[in-house]
Amino acid sequence: MRSLLFAANWKMHLGPADTRAYMSTFLAEYQERPDRQVWFFPPAVSLETVSTAVRGRASMLAGAQDIYWEPKGAFTGAISGPLAAQAGARAALVGHSERRHVFGETDADTGRKVAAALSADLYPVLCVGETLAQRDAGDTLKVVTRQLEAALPPPGRVDPRLTIAYEPVWAIGTGRNATPKDAAEVHRAIRSWLKDRAAGQTRILYGGSVNLKNAAELLAERELDGVLVGGASLDPHGWAELVRTGVA
Ligand code: PGA
Repeated sequence: MRSLLFAANWKMHLGPADTRAYMSTFLAEYQERPDRQVWFFPPAVSLETVSTAVRGRASMLAGAQDIYWEPKGAFTGAISGPLAAQAGARAALVGHSERRHVFGETDADTGRKVAAALSADLYPVLCVGETLAQRDAGDTLKVVTRQLEAALPPPGRVDPRLTIAYEPVWAIGTGRNATPKDAAEVHRAIRSWLKDRAAGQTRILYGGSVNLKNAAELLAERELDGVLVGGASLDPHGWAELVRTGVA
């Protein structure tokens, strides 16, 4: 059975009180299924609320949107893998385009964060993707490969707990999604890079303006193992419907 991962990235929305209301609506409307996993990435202040709400549900978990690579210390404002785990996180996004482009996160930082997530026993979800200028210059695969190489350096095999999210920067929050064919081409290149590192089974999600209207068409493309969704995950009714999306 093809198993799909639906990841909700709430970004800077939904504090603990909003999250309690959201989760009670979502859980009332969505019945767990064996072929779907639902991962929630709330702001750090709401991690514990999500993790409490999904406790006992095998197909759901909470994850951090970002972690710092040091496990503890004088790093005002940062949260570490172990702190996120203590709040109930079981996964962490790494290298989301907003972290890279708004907060100046470098390729080298993403490598440290993937390693930190793994050592805190969190599933890393590494985000990669090109800007519009890079796509127009024909550099998409070069950029994505550089991001993979920096975040998952040798030696050693790519860890099987890893998930990749391909999110073209020009598609995030713009209403302009990649076509299934465009996404599939990049997914194939990522998969072949992973295969060369004995990690061909790694899940690869697509993200960037996924919504109720385009999710079924995108997920009909077999190269996609799921989706990472921002804006369209903020409404619990819409998100429950999106996760139920029928896939051919
Ligand atoms: P979007 O965001 O669905 O609002 O485009 C996706 C993401 O940034 O993960």
